[in-house]
Amino acid sequence: MTFLPPEHDKSTAVVNMPLTDSFSRKLTYLRLSVTDRCNLRCRYCMPQSSFSWMPSENILSFEEIHRICRAFCKSGIRKIRLTGGEPLVRRGLVGLIQKLNRLEGLEEICLTTNGTLLGEYAEELMDAGVTHINISLDTMVPDTYASITGADMFQKVWDSILKVLELGFPQVKLNAVVIKGVTDSDIYELARLAIEYPIDVRFIEFMPVGDSIPWSPDSMIPSDEIRNRLEREMGHLEPVKRHAGAGPASLYRLKGAPGLLGFISPLSHHFCSTCNRLRVTADGKLRLCLFSDSEIDIKTPLRQGMGDVELEQFLRKAVAVKPEGYHALGKEQVSCSKRMSSIGG
Ligand code: GTP
Ligand code: 5AD
Ligand code: SF4
Repeated sequence: MTFLPPEHDKSTAVVNMPLTDSFSRKLTYLRLSVTDRCNLRCRYCMPQSSFSWMPSENILSFEEIHRICRAFCKSGIRKIRLTGGEPLVRRGLVGLIQKLNRLEGLEEICLTTNGTLLGEYAEELMDAGVTHINISLDTMVPDTYASITGADMFQKVWDSILKVLELGFPQVKLNAVVIKGVTDSDIYELARLAIEYPIDVRFIEFMPVGDSIPWSPDSMIPSDEIRNRLEREMGHLEPVKRHAGAGPASLYRLKGAPGLLGFISPLSHHFCSTCNRLRVTADGKLRLCLFSDSEIDIKTPLRQGMGDVELEQFLRKAVAVKPEGYHALGKEQVSCSKRMSSIGG
């Protein structure tokens, strides 16, 4: 469903007030999907049946993305994460990042990537201003990797990880989706990476995002169980305090390990009350909650000539109606119909 844009009132520009929703949550973190396309077909993300990409004229141009980000930064967004699909399949991304890096108020430019093209772009990304890189990797076993993603590219991803570490990116995180019977035996080898390298390894509960992914309540393992299994094998995990503006993971340290272990538990311990984030989809819709299919179209008014001041007011009014959380969406079971690759995670 797409909302009509909220009415905008030209007389009441409220500049530089932090963006706040009706539950007094400060919104400082924007996740923006630059493309729905991807060079992988992860089975928990892409439908196994045939599907089509969004037509390219529906995708926000870099100029539109820059204007939206500038308006958000004026309104208090301090961290922008570029996502996809796979963001690095979009040509010219580095040029966009260079421009975003000059936005006033922006403190962090982050990238979530599948890592397959990261080795090629790592230096340019660092020079352009990316500081935080999250890489999706669910297993250290090349055959399992190929069967999950549909591509024999484990080695490319691993080489990229080593490269970003060597270049000294301030923060490198791995994301592993834990699926019962598919990747749950891989958690130990992944967790050991945090002992050997300065990498945070985060385990994510498998979420029912998108209509045709093979999710069932039985396929999801709650984070507490994953943490208990790791603790039994590897020793005590010491809780670490999250800093303000952080993402959704609860963090733990293994004694002596340079990296942290993180658990992202949207289903078993939702973090809606501390949600600080907004999403813009590849086709220019503001998504106020990952699990809410009610989106607000930003692209159409932009293309109809909305000016910068109006854009800021528009965004402020739009975010005010962010839902309290997915439990308040009135669904029997948490889910959403749009594909993860067009929302950006
Ligand atoms: P950091 O800022 O580094 O902590 O990143 P992040 O965890 O916010 O971003 P990333 O793109 O690495 O996402 C990791 C996982 O967390 C993905 O599976 C996302 O879908 C999930 N995630 C991030 N934010 C939310 C959220 O608000 N709700 C839910 N349900 N999942 C989220
Ligand atoms: N459940 C949990 N995480 C998912 N991701 C993609 N699909 C799902 C899902 N159904 C993760 C990817 C990537 C991040 C952006 O979202 O692994 O790391
Ligand atoms: Fe591509 Fe990421 Fe989806 Fe995998 S999870 S298919 S890498 S967008």
